[in-house]
Amino acid sequence: MYRANEDYLKLPGSYLFSTIAKKVSAFQAENPDKKIIRLGIGDVTLPLCPAVIEALHKAVDEQADPATFRGYAPDLGYEFLRHAMAENDFRARGCDIADDEIFISDGAKSDSANIQEIFTKNTKLAVCDPVYPVYVDSNVMAGRCGDYDAETGMWSNVIYMPCTAENGFAPELPSETPDIIYLCFPNNPTGSAITKDQLQVWVDYANKVGAVIIFDAAYEAYISEDNVPHSVFECEGARTCAIELRSFSKNAGFTGLRLGATIIPHDLKVKQDGEEVELHRLWARRHGTKYNGAPYIVQRAGEACYSEAGKAQIKEMVGTYMKNASYILNGLKDAGYQAFGGVNSPYVWLRTPDNMTSWEFFDHLLTKANVVGTPGSGFGPSGEHYFRLTAFGSYENSVEALDRIRAL
Ligand code: MLT
Repeated sequence: MYRANEDYLKLPGSYLFSTIAKKVSAFQAENPDKKIIRLGIGDVTLPLCPAVIEALHKAVDEQADPATFRGYAPDLGYEFLRHAMAENDFRARGCDIADDEIFISDGAKSDSANIQEIFTKNTKLAVCDPVYPVYVDSNVMAGRCGDYDAETGMWSNVIYMPCTAENGFAPELPSETPDIIYLCFPNNPTGSAITKDQLQVWVDYANKVGAVIIFDAAYEAYISEDNVPHSVFECEGARTCAIELRSFSKNAGFTGLRLGATIIPHDLKVKQDGEEVELHRLWARRHGTKYNGAPYIVQRAGEACYSEAGKAQIKEMVGTYMKNASYILNGLKDAGYQAFGGVNSPYVWLRTPDNMTSWEFFDHLLTKANVVGTPGSGFGPSGEHYFRLTAFGSYENSVEALDRIRAL
């Protein structure tokens, strides 16, 4: 008789955003006349920009012609896109990244879930708390996190680094030494950012203790302050201790199109059983075995993001969302809420009023204001009594949501 994977059985409940979607659908079914404003999942609402649409059309036409048709994509990504990324996202910022250190994929969510596969099973991970749930859940599925304590909301074999208002939402170096450290800045969910000096401390620490930083840069396009790094590779020494995850979802609106990348420098090596192992080689092996490459048309769309027109149009989209972020942040503050983030990030993080739990506030907001947000405790125990609103809605909906929240 077959058995199901016990590690999967350890996962409590359903994925955070699936739980929220179910609750919202149930409420809408019972209240069909209510206009719900969705500021929960960080999904974009603006259409793809003209430069991207044009590139898609052109690539589709190429697929219709035997002379230009493309089948399987190269498993690590087309050279044209790897080169455009390396030039624009890295070398233009002084980061020493070669084209072949960039692996193109179908998005940062899958890469952030899959990257753990190239580490040995008894790897100890450290995560910010609260944290994007995928980092922990994917390691639970791999049997790495020990046991879940429903009382504390913690896994026995995970190092949690609390990020709260008290420490400015910046993690402190852990007392126990981790093997891999997940960092996401600008942060999902708190919307906070760290300076280059603060990130340098982590890079120095990782090099010292022999840990790898998995740096999720999905929100870098939202950075508005000069001293905030767009890439971990802006820090000295990052080539020997860091992997970076990149997304086209939040900057260019590819949440439905799907495109991302993982950057693994050749200098990231570990001495093991008398051999020097490059993690780059293992990820290339994984990609080759398990993945047939992001679609040609989508990679052409990704390349268009780096054209002059593409860059200008994306900047405008990001600006539109940041106008919402600023409106939500200031509106909440004016209404007496403690609110954070929203300056280098499309997320605003607020403390729940009247000491409500995050889920109590979720229900309150949904039923009384018909506004959907994300309960902070869904991202980890230190997210309790916090709540996240995204700036990815329309400006009109952001204004209306704030009016409704003020009227509560
Ligand atoms: C979020 O809302 O946290 C994000 O949309 C999740 C994701 O990017 O997968």
